[in-house]
Amino acid sequence: MNDVTTAGTPLDCNDPRLAEALQYVIGNSGKQLRARLVMASYRMLCAGAEDAGAASAATAIEWLHTYSLVHDDLPAMDNDALRRGKPTVHTVYDEATAILIGDGLQAAAFALISEDNQLSSDKRLKLIALISGAVGFTGMVGGQALDMAAEGQASTFDQLRLIHAQKTGALIRAAVLSGAICADATDHDIERLGQFSSTIGLAFQVADDILDVTQNSTTLGKTAGKDVTVKKSTYVSCLGLEGARKEAEKLLTEALTCLSPYGERAQPLSELAVAMVRREH
Ligand code: IPE
Ligand code: IPE
Ligand code: MG
Ligand code: MG
Ligand code: MG
Repeated sequence: MNDVTTAGTPLDCNDPRLAEALQYVIGNSGKQLRARLVMASYRMLCAGAEDAGAASAATAIEWLHTYSLVHDDLPAMDNDALRRGKPTVHTVYDEATAILIGDGLQAAAFALISEDNQLSSDKRLKLIALISGAVGFTGMVGGQALDMAAEGQASTFDQLRLIHAQKTGALIRAAVLSGAICADATDHDIERLGQFSSTIGLAFQVADDILDVTQNSTTLGKTAGKDVTVKKSTYVSCLGLEGARKEAEKLLTEALTCLSPYGERAQPLSELAVAMVRREH
């Protein structure tokens, strides 16, 4: 996939230092899994339609995800010095700049969708309602708060599932459902894809917990072993490495079953789901 984070969508910024930091962040895109999910779900439901019909949602979701990482790495949160193979933005610039980059990317994401005149007003509104809910207090932000509160605690499996579903799963679910909204999906499709995406979103964070203990920092492009160092509640700390691996595979199987009604049309989305769980970084 081309880099969707900048394609045709200039992020204007008047302050030269902030603009430079923004370029530093946006110019170093990651795996772009959430954008790929938007496009795979969209293409599955309306084969042959113009990709432009879901492009703004894909880009906006990547910007929101990028904002979440910039804030996640701040000293007040995970205090990380490495992200996507480079020093984190607050270490290169400063904390205020990193906070403002996150704030600005969040606003820009919603502006991008609201100004996309290739989408009907109804679709724009649906997308904004879905995505804002996913990143808000009962989604990503709420999950980040629960995640930090659980540091050093022995979380139960149910507590951990809720943390992961919110901090990471919610935006992944919104990515899949955004593609569906752009494709004029039926209520049945939304229900099935809602189930698929909640499950794969959870599995994705289980894989992240596993990689934290099985990979090195160079492969990950972020500090390996961090969760153990700061006593994070993770699937590995709760279930052990083998238990976490089994859980990830179980969730993957469950997610793929949700796609069976789509037959061969679901192949790219299924392949993406497998790659999200069995990845190496
Ligand atoms: C990392 O997400 C943060 C989590 C939600 C676990 P990704 O692994 O998708 O990060 P990038 O975008 O590829 O850097
Ligand atoms: C990050 O989870 C979740 C969000 C950014 C919302 P992690 O803290 O586990 O992500 P990494 O491991 O730093 O990428
Ligand atoms: Mg974190
Ligand atoms: Mg982190
Ligand atoms: Mg992690």
